[in-house]
Amino acid sequence: MRRSIGVEPKQGARVPRENTRRGLDRRRFLRRAGSATLLGVASGAATRELSGAETAPPVQPLRGPSEYDFDEVYDRLGTDSIRWDKAVEEYGPGIVAGMGVADMDFRAAPCVAKALAERCAHENWGYLHRPASYAQDVADWNRRRYGLEIDPETIVFTTGVHPGIIAALHTFSPPGGRVLMTTPTYDGFYTDIRFSRTVAEDCPMVVEDGRWSIDFDDFERRAQRCNTFILCNPQNPTGNCWSPADLMRMGEICLKHRVVVLADEIHCDLVTRGNTYTPFASLPDAEIVNNSLTFKSASKSFSLAAMKVAWYHTTNPDYLERVGSHTRADLSTLGMVATQAALNEGEPWLDDLLAYLDANHDFAESYVRRNMPLIRYVKAQGTYLAWLDTSALAARIGAKETAARESAQATEPVTPEKVVQRWFAERAGVFLNPGSRYGTGGDGYMRMNLASSRRVVEMALSKMADAMENA
Ligand SMILES: Cc1ncc(COP(=O)(O)O)c(C=O)c1O
Repeated sequence: MRRSIGVEPKQGARVPRENTRRGLDRRRFLRRAGSATLLGVASGAATRELSGAETAPPVQPLRGPSEYDFDEVYDRLGTDSIRWDKAVEEYGPGIVAGMGVADMDFRAAPCVAKALAERCAHENWGYLHRPASYAQDVADWNRRRYGLEIDPETIVFTTGVHPGIIAALHTFSPPGGRVLMTTPTYDGFYTDIRFSRTVAEDCPMVVEDGRWSIDFDDFERRAQRCNTFILCNPQNPTGNCWSPADLMRMGEICLKHRVVVLADEIHCDLVTRGNTYTPFASLPDAEIVNNSLTFKSASKSFSLAAMKVAWYHTTNPDYLERVGSHTRADLSTLGMVATQAALNEGEPWLDDLLAYLDANHDFAESYVRRNMPLIRYVKAQGTYLAWLDTSALAARIGAKETAARESAQATEPVTPEKVVQRWFAERAGVFLNPGSRYGTGGDGYMRMNLASSRRVVEMALSKMADAMENA
């Protein structure tokens, strides 16, 4: 029988005003967060839901017991976080689990917090001179973890993966030019495409038993009318870690049809047990590698997204110069300090985190299988995202019909997935991302972020299951 934790969701129930975004004094919140650190407790919507709940079973890290407490429910409400505060803004204070945007709820790696505190002790944040060690640290990380040699001279820092990709699109794809993507894929690419006035060329993937693969005939047909291909490796939202054979095939086709490969590998450090990330730049064909740029960051692995640091690199000097001419590479002091600390000292934390996330994926997969007959989830190979097939639920609640009815009255089309999103937000207090945002093939799916304390993941799944029992 399914275990239920926390307070049962009540239709239309509202949490006390002091916990809402508007009602919460920001400074008071931050003070409380500080004392939470000392007391080992946190406050806020998730914690309140969890009070009196059973403690989730401990998760075994890969290297034995962990010195890091990933089980801690670290309250982010009131910090202007997209994941929590924006979800509450959209659906109201009944939201008890923000499981949307791809960042993590955990307290930062101690080495990152310490380095930032030390730098903040020096109270000046004027323009920054980039030390040579910055690019060297990125190169060393790639050599240590993936055996990939990168010449530090070929690394360009940006304020995010997006600015780098937009610069590359401006370079290689003229306005109106088509950009190939295997879909469903990260929704942010569609924004990059809008910014560069290019057009998406979706190549829908094939799904079989929850595993996604590429129809290479279709891929090649579409490649012929594109200038660029945005590869997502591992793929957000499906979690695919592409095999060397798949990457070679994509690379060969792109080379043959003069399509530049933009390899977004921001999720590269996040793979589940038994799976491997293969850097596109490690493929054994120099011509294929020379036809690519790779975009990365420590921001997913260490949850530093708002520190605004990323980089790209390429072995092709011509590409480096051309994309460089479209890149304004601003530096952020705290971003650099956090990134260097993470890359130089953060590996033990990351390794324990990976074990914890892997266990969250296992937990979610078995929980869904046992308790949610209307949802299907096959454990992701990479990322901390669960790509849930909710098509049976959508059919049960008439999401298509509701969406059609509402679209007829609305200025923007309402998708069935948006209806499912609202359904979970209102009935379970859980915020998920609607699959329709991820391009062709996203219909019928919801994306759930599992990078949170297992107690929050368990509470969110339990509330979703409760809601569906009455569907
Ligand atoms: C595949 C992928 N690329 C890029 C980004 C965003 O990168 P940045 O914040 O560095 O611009 C995300 C964030 O979710 C992502 O999933």
